[in-house]
Amino acid sequence: MPAVVIVGAQWGDEGKGKIVDLYTERAEMVVRYAGGPNAGHTLVVGDEKIVVRLVPSGILRPEARCVMAQGMVVDPSVLAGEIDAIEARGHVTKGRLFVSDRAHVIVPYHPLIDGLREGAAAAGQKIGTTKRGIGPCYEDKAARRGVRVADLFDKARLTELVTRALRAWSPVILDLGGDVPDAHATVEAMSPFAERIKPYVAETSALVDEALERGERVLFEGAQGTMLDVDHGTYPFVTSSSAVSGGACTGAGIGPTRIGRVIGLTKAYATRVGEGPFPTELHDALGERIRVAGGEFGSVTGRPRRTGWLDLPVLRYAARVNGLSGLAVTKLDVLTDLAEIQVCVAYDTPHGRTRDFPEAELAASKPVLMSFPSWGPELAKARTFDALPEAAKRYLGFIAEQVKVAVDVVSVGPRRDETIVLREAF
Ligand code: GDP
Ligand code: IMO
Ligand code: MG
Repeated sequence: MPAVVIVGAQWGDEGKGKIVDLYTERAEMVVRYAGGPNAGHTLVVGDEKIVVRLVPSGILRPEARCVMAQGMVVDPSVLAGEIDAIEARGHVTKGRLFVSDRAHVIVPYHPLIDGLREGAAAAGQKIGTTKRGIGPCYEDKAARRGVRVADLFDKARLTELVTRALRAWSPVILDLGGDVPDAHATVEAMSPFAERIKPYVAETSALVDEALERGERVLFEGAQGTMLDVDHGTYPFVTSSSAVSGGACTGAGIGPTRIGRVIGLTKAYATRVGEGPFPTELHDALGERIRVAGGEFGSVTGRPRRTGWLDLPVLRYAARVNGLSGLAVTKLDVLTDLAEIQVCVAYDTPHGRTRDFPEAELAASKPVLMSFPSWGPELAKARTFDALPEAAKRYLGFIAEQVKVAVDVVSVGPRRDETIVLREAF
């Protein structure tokens, strides 16, 4: 089956960039299907490190075509900057990168509103968004007053749409103490970025379909993670898009019958950036140690990520709602030389013990932790499963058995070669 979906099984930042880049060695096309510049996907190739936010993580593989599908929200200024940065490093983007004409546009008032709202929200009501305008842009899409990429190239229509949207948002902006931007100035400000991205605009749903029809290997790159999905995550502490594997169908315009495999990514522990439930969070020196060892600082906002133990009920849930066929376990090296590693295997709720993530009664539930021995620095040198320390093999075996999904990939460092592939995606 030529279509494979890569999806975050936790709260994002599981290493999707690295694994997508790795799998792209054997893929002809990579498709981002949801989210926008709230994502930050890190690619480390040789001595080069790039963080992509909108452009698919296959961009460093010269043979691969990269598609930004209509489920995404695109900020033209961010995209223009990203294209410039990638080209400045000597990579060709023309004829390889395609942006859906139907993707919704993040207009400057979207990040403005996002920021004002986060600033004004009372404690306990802040989402901890990336302030990139994601929520307000998807709100305009659902309200049927959004600006789509194709609209950028018709100034009269664009001005009309921006005027209409601003009329709707004005009371909100004023109520939050902001200044309502001028429609014409907004359109003018976007103009150079619109021109910069124009050569990349295409009807991407047909492009993806044609690739699949030719039998090409197509990788669908998820952004965010299962627990941040607007339908399936820890609502309301979620993003505004369909991050789960099903989002690949709606976001890229393909039928579910096209998808052959779904690979769920998880760190060997857990992180979350932003507000919301995280029952296995560590608030102590150990949490700080993991944060430092794992470089757990947001690739978009630089915020320190919250750190904690792996949550198997979360992974079981992710296996269910994504239909996972394989797991990629990343950042095993970060747990090197700990006194012990703990894992949440179940929850004690007011109604007894459950192996499921008890979303509805999290406040009254406590994680049940199991302890595992750690391993030494030799782990980072392993390039085959057999070469892994016994303790790491047992840890991986336990995860696979508990989640009932096989481990396809083990990652022991940020670079391409610091990876053990047990099963190829294609
Ligand atoms: P994404 O959003 O899922 O693509 O993940 P991010 O790029 O935001 O964050 C993952 C971070 O972990 C990046 O800095 C990666 O370079 C790094 N990384 C990925 N895999 C590994 C690994 O196995 N070990 C270590 N130490 N770092 C990794
Ligand atoms: P990648 O693709 C981690 C989080 C934000 C916030 C919530 C809503 O790199 O894994 P938003 O700006 O989307 O309205 O914020 O979602 N969030 C992410 N956390 N990784 C991401 O992307 C994220 N994208 C959004 O921190 O809690
Ligand atoms: Mg990230």
